[in-house]
Amino acid sequence: MSRDIRVEDLSLEEKVQLLVGASWHLRRIHGTAGETRPVRGLPMVAMADGPSGIRIEPNPIRRWPATAFPVPIMLASTWNPELVEAVGRAMGEEARDYGIGVFLAPGINIHRHPLCGRNFEYFSEDPLLAGKIAVAYVKGVQSVGVAATPKHFAANEQETNRTTVDTIVDERTLREIYLKPFEIVVKEAKPWAIMSSYNKLNGKYTSQNEWLLTKVLREEWGFDGIVMSDWGAGDNPIEQVKAGNDLIMPGSDEIVSRLIEAVKRGELSEDYVNRSAARVLEFIKRTPAYKGYKPTNAPNLKEHSKLAYEAAAEGVVLLKNNNEALPLNTNAKVALFGTGQIETNRGGLGSGHTHPRYFINILDGLRNGGLRVDEELSSIYVNYVKENRGEDYLCALYYEEAYSEPLPQDVVSEEQVRKYAERNDAAVVVISRNSGEGWDRRAIKGDYYLTDSERRLIEVVSKQFHALGRRVIVVLNVPSPIEVVSWRDLVDAIILVWLPGQEAGRVVADVLTGRINPSGKLPTTFPRDWSDVPAAKAVECYPGTPPDNPKVVKYCEGVYVGYRYYDKYGIEPAYEFGFGLSYTRFEYRNLRVTIDDSVKVSFDVINVGKYPGKEIAQVYVKAPQGSLDKPVQELKAFKKTRLLNPGEVDHIELTINIKELASFNDAKGLWIVDKGEYEVRVGASSRDIRLTSKFTLNNEISFKP
Ligand code: BGC
Repeated sequence: MSRDIRVEDLSLEEKVQLLVGASWHLRRIHGTAGETRPVRGLPMVAMADGPSGIRIEPNPIRRWPATAFPVPIMLASTWNPELVEAVGRAMGEEARDYGIGVFLAPGINIHRHPLCGRNFEYFSEDPLLAGKIAVAYVKGVQSVGVAATPKHFAANEQETNRTTVDTIVDERTLREIYLKPFEIVVKEAKPWAIMSSYNKLNGKYTSQNEWLLTKVLREEWGFDGIVMSDWGAGDNPIEQVKAGNDLIMPGSDEIVSRLIEAVKRGELSEDYVNRSAARVLEFIKRTPAYKGYKPTNAPNLKEHSKLAYEAAAEGVVLLKNNNEALPLNTNAKVALFGTGQIETNRGGLGSGHTHPRYFINILDGLRNGGLRVDEELSSIYVNYVKENRGEDYLCALYYEEAYSEPLPQDVVSEEQVRKYAERNDAAVVVISRNSGEGWDRRAIKGDYYLTDSERRLIEVVSKQFHALGRRVIVVLNVPSPIEVVSWRDLVDAIILVWLPGQEAGRVVADVLTGRINPSGKLPTTFPRDWSDVPAAKAVECYPGTPPDNPKVVKYCEGVYVGYRYYDKYGIEPAYEFGFGLSYTRFEYRNLRVTIDDSVKVSFDVINVGKYPGKEIAQVYVKAPQGSLDKPVQELKAFKKTRLLNPGEVDHIELTINIKELASFNDAKGLWIVDKGEYEVRVGASSRDIRLTSKFTLNNEISFKP
């Protein structure tokens, strides 16, 4: 019966029901975020969050656990679209098998400021990297017949006053930076849904912004799915429907009545209702529930845990490795310092949280990974965590969704540290942080900066271990950048493991022992200090004014976000965009650039070191300065090599469409590719350019958005 439903057959009341979610209390699957309404026997389509895995509640009897994959900032650190696509597919399968038709992920906002509380849910400071990783993610999810929902469209780069703040951005910056990942994902992956954001954009709530949702998204980019609102976003459902926000989430009966009344009073043309109802109807018809798929409730969690491991393994970024401090011998004796060995953060908080079947913290990972952990030392930390967090701290590790301040790290005396230095080969110090939805990180000790006790711990451990010629390694278990410059010289090696998901401990152990050769690179700059960030130059630029309760935030820095800013203004970052070391070394050779209707770039990457490894080669283009002021260089292509044994070569061939070289000219309302000389810069990071070549465009090319 439901199969034949067409919009023309529905009453006004039924059509409006299609435009409004079924509200919280009707949720049939514990922990999902919302559902569509059961109009005329159509199934209710359930929606669950991501983006680090399916977020449903395994409580009270731990049914429905879902794999905790590494957080998106770590997925982007892999620079490996094939791997991300496989992760997306696994998430899609888990959604489908638990009866969920819509996955509310990925988040593709830009890392504009390192203190944004949701940066871990987003991919990158660079729109191309964010866009390409999003394409892979969405293709993966949708390959199993579940909708992906890139979010939050658009210009939602902070959590402070996220539901009301008015983001002021010029059109060029919007199109080149903040809309770009959405444009890429819409054109290349055809998501079935997009989630509009909470904030206003240049004066209008995005969910009520016809320019954004209809002109740009549909007319220019050809989007053919549904737009849903973020949960409770906006202040006027009538304006939302007019603007092209097809589905209002989580929805309420009151909104249904309001829309029906508005049509009856002539405030809302029924044409708008028909338009969105038709889209939602088509959308529902694509979902597994409509197609009669019976949820198995038994996704292949075993296989997916392997994938969670693999994705985390490729997303680890080796930030420092002096004198080949790493890898350690597989049976090395290791003194583990820091409560983060027990309270390892696997994921972020808020809607991006996950409830996996199990979780391996760093301590257990090292114990099981062959390393000889100093059990006496670790037991001191275990007892300390129990005392401070309560006996059921292990349970909290699985379920906790609340933020806890880092514990003071004055746990062992200097004499004790000396003893551990005498009987171990290396020290591993874990520094952990977390962040989440609804609040931004803080530029204080204990969040962006080390606490005094963390700093003392690093100092004392380095002093005692170095006195005996032993190495000191720091593991950064953080959601986004922290300050590193003031302490990094004290230690020999730093591995950045972000929030690595359920396999955290195994991955850390395998990186320490070299079973994993780190091959991740930074998708976001580690500035020397957060105050170097261009957005930090004035409070009106972040988090907005008035400072005690921001109503307006201006994207003052324009297109100069991340490396575009540091490069342009000659500011030295702590670790630049695209940076990441390996246990082996790579050389780049034989760059060839040819140009016809696109730019073809080819070169070789050779493993000239001692270990098998993968390299991420990056292609930046420096454009001529035409009528617009431009970044020094912009990422235009990248490729992760296959695993190369020592001596092996990978021949890389990449294509850049000429249109991708364009800048947006606000005054003319056109994308313009300037004529003149372009430089192709191939490198191992944005500041480690190994090969360059030039080409010339004789004619300017311009085109409409
Ligand atoms: C978040 C979204 C999320 C939604 C549903 C909102 O508060 O901003 O990212 O998908 O809740 O849980």
